[in-house]
Amino acid sequence: MVFDIIEHLQIRPELKESILEFRKQYPVEPQFQSRIPVPSNIYYGTDIWERAVTALLCGKNILLVGHKATGKNIFAENLAAAFARPRWDVSFHVNMDAASLIGMDTFKKQEVIFRPGPICCAAQHGGFAVLDEINMAKNEALAVLHGTLDFRRSIDVPGYERIDLHPATRFIATMNYGYAGTKELNEALVSRFVVIRMPMISQEHLILLLQDHYPTLKTEGAKELAAVYLDLQKKCENAQISSRAMDLRGLLDGVALMEKGLNVQDALDMGITNKTFDPYEQTLIQDTIRGRISKKMKPEDLFEEKCGSRRKEFA
Ligand SMILES: Nc1ncnc2c1ncn2[C@@H]1O[C@H](COP(=O)(O)OP(=O)(O)O)[C@@H](O)[C@H]1O
Ligand SMILES: [Mg+2]
Repeated sequence: MVFDIIEHLQIRPELKESILEFRKQYPVEPQFQSRIPVPSNIYYGTDIWERAVTALLCGKNILLVGHKATGKNIFAENLAAAFARPRWDVSFHVNMDAASLIGMDTFKKQEVIFRPGPICCAAQHGGFAVLDEINMAKNEALAVLHGTLDFRRSIDVPGYERIDLHPATRFIATMNYGYAGTKELNEALVSRFVVIRMPMISQEHLILLLQDHYPTLKTEGAKELAAVYLDLQKKCENAQISSRAMDLRGLLDGVALMEKGLNVQDALDMGITNKTFDPYEQTLIQDTIRGRISKKMKPEDLFEEKCGSRRKEFA
C-alpha cells in the first residue's frame, strides 16, 4: 500500500471528501506523476489544515506567513500531496526576473524554442506552484504574476499566445516574518492571496515531531528537548536572543548526533548555539540549554535501546 497522506489527516470529513473529488476530477498526466510529493512527515495543526484546504477548494491562492521553522514548506508540500498535484518549486531571490518564472526562448537543434519556466509548467499541467519566500524578490519581477494570480488566471508570455491556467492550478506562497527587518510584500500582490498565519509548533506537536524523526527517542527525552526549544522560543519572542537560535532543523540535527552517541550538550551546541556568532548571545543560549539539560545526561538516557535488532542481524 502506498502512503497516502489523506488517511492521516484529522480534518472535517466533508473536506476530505471534497479533496478526493478534486483528485478524481483532475487526474494527473503520467509524465508528471513523479512530481506529486511524498512527504516525509506530516504537518501538525488541524485548524491550519482546514483553513488552507477550504481556500484551495474555493480556487484561492494562499500565502503562508510565519516565523522561520513554522513548517511553511513542509505544509506546502503536504498540501500538494493531499490534493495529489504535481508540484513546482520556485525559490525567490533578488535577481529573480520574469523569464526565470515564466520561461524563455532557447536554441535546440538550431531552432528557437520556448522553454517553459516553473510558473508556465504549473499553469499548463494543473500543478501547485510553491512560491517560496516570495518577499525576497523585487516587486517589479513579481508584477508579471499579477494576471496569473487574480481572476484573469492567465499568463502573458511575450511573443507567444496567452496561456490560461488549468483549473486545478494553485499558487502557495510562503513568507518569513521575522522579529525584525523583514521585507514587506507589496499590497497589490498580497491582495491576490488569502493569507494564513502559521503558528509556532506546540510542545505536544513538537514531541510527536521529534519522535516521528527519531522513533527510538523516549517520550521523556523528547519532552526535555521540546522544552529547551520552547524556552529558546520564549527568549526570542522577548527579543532576548535573535531568531538564529530558534532553529528547529538545528534541533533535529542535534538529535541525530546524540543518537550516534555524541554528548547531549555538545550536540545541541552544534545544532543550535553555534549558529549565532555573538558571544553574549551564545552564552544566553547555552545557559538556556544547560538550564534544562544537565551535564550528566547521557545520550543513551534519551533513546530506547534498539534491542534485538542488531543481535538478530548477527544471529
Ligand atoms: N506544525 C508542524 N508540523 C510538522 N512539522 C513542523 C511543524 N512546524 C515546524 N515543523 C518542522 O520544522 C522544520 C522546518 O520546517 P519548514 O517547513 O522548513 O519551515 P519554514 O519553511 O516555515 O521555515 C521541519 O522539520 C518541519 O517538519
Ligand atoms: Mg521555508
